Amino acid sequence: MQVAHSVESDAYPFEINRIGDVAGAEIIGLDLSKPIDIATRDAIMRAFLEHHVLVFRDQDLTKDQQAAFSENFGTLEHHVGRLPNGEPFPIVHTVTNLGPDGKPLGEKMGKGNFHWHTDKSYHEVPSLMTMLHAKQVPADGGDTQFANTRMGYAALPEATKDRIAEMKAEHSWEASRRNTKSPPATEEQKRERPPVTHPVVRTHPDTKDKILYVGCHVSHIHDMPRDESDDLLAELMDHTTQPKFVYSHRWRKGDYVMWDNRCLLHRASPNFDTANEARVLHRTVIIGTKPY
Ligand code: OGA
Ligand code: MN
Repeated sequence: MQVAHSVESDAYPFEINRIGDVAGAEIIGLDLSKPIDIATRDAIMRAFLEHHVLVFRDQDLTKDQQAAFSENFGTLEHHVGRLPNGEPFPIVHTVTNLGPDGKPLGEKMGKGNFHWHTDKSYHEVPSLMTMLHAKQVPADGGDTQFANTRMGYAALPEATKDRIAEMKAEHSWEASRRNTKSPPATEEQKRERPPVTHPVVRTHPDTKDKILYVGCHVSHIHDMPRDESDDLLAELMDHTTQPKFVYSHRWRKGDYVMWDNRCLLHRASPNFDTANEARVLHRTVIIGTKPY
C-alpha cells in the first residue's frame, strides 16, 4: 500500500500528493469541467513532467467538457480504428468491457490493453498524453499499471546502454496484434498502418531524459538476427516492468487520469470480474512529436 504524502505545497497552486514511488500524484480541489487559466495549466504541466501520472479526484465531466479540458495540452488525436459498426471512433471515445447490449463481455473482451505498451508507438508520430476519466469502476481491481521507462533505462548496466544506444526498432499494428495474441491485422489495417521505425532509446523532448522506448507494438530491432532481437526485447521489457519501476493505479469513480506516454509503458490489469462488473472510462489523447 502506498501512502499519499504532500509535495512541497508552495510549488503548485493546488493540493498535490504523491501516491506512487515511481510515478503518480493526486490533485485535489480542481474542477476540470470549468475552464482553467494559463497559470493553472502551466502548473499542471509542471506536475505532469515531475510525476508522469496525474490523478484528479472527484471529477464529473461530460465528453464535451473532457475534450475542452484536453485541448489545453495540445492537439486531440483522431483514431485510425473503427467501431464494430464501421463508424470512426469519436474524438472522446469509451474504453469499456461492456458489449453493445450493455452487458459485461467477460472472456470476449479485447485483451490488447492487457499487454505493456505506449500509445500509438506504431505511428510515425505517437501519442504524448492519454487521459482517462472513470465513469464506472469495478468494486475490486481493474487497475491501470504504469512502468517508468526513464528509471528502467537509467538502471540498465552501462554495457547494455552502450549496446542499445544507436539501435532502431520497427513498430507496427500487425506486430502488436501478433504479440498480444489478438485477431490478426486485416489487409486494410496493414495498408492504413504501415510499420514505422523509432529509436530504442528515445530522448524525452521536454526533460531531455533518456528513455527505453519498447512495448508490445514492437516487431523487431533492425540489423540484428530475429532471435537475438526477440531475446533483447524480452530482456529490456522484463527489466523495465519489474515491480520496483511500476505504479498500479486503483481507480475511484470520478478519477481523471493523465499520463506521459513518452516515459511510461502502461497496461490494463485483468484483476477484476470482467464477466459481471462494469469498467467504463472516457478517453482522450494528445498527439506527440516524432521520437528521436
Ligand atoms: C488506453 C489504455 C488501459 C486501461 O486507454 O490507452 O491502455 O487500463 N488503457 O484501460
Ligand atoms: Mn493504451
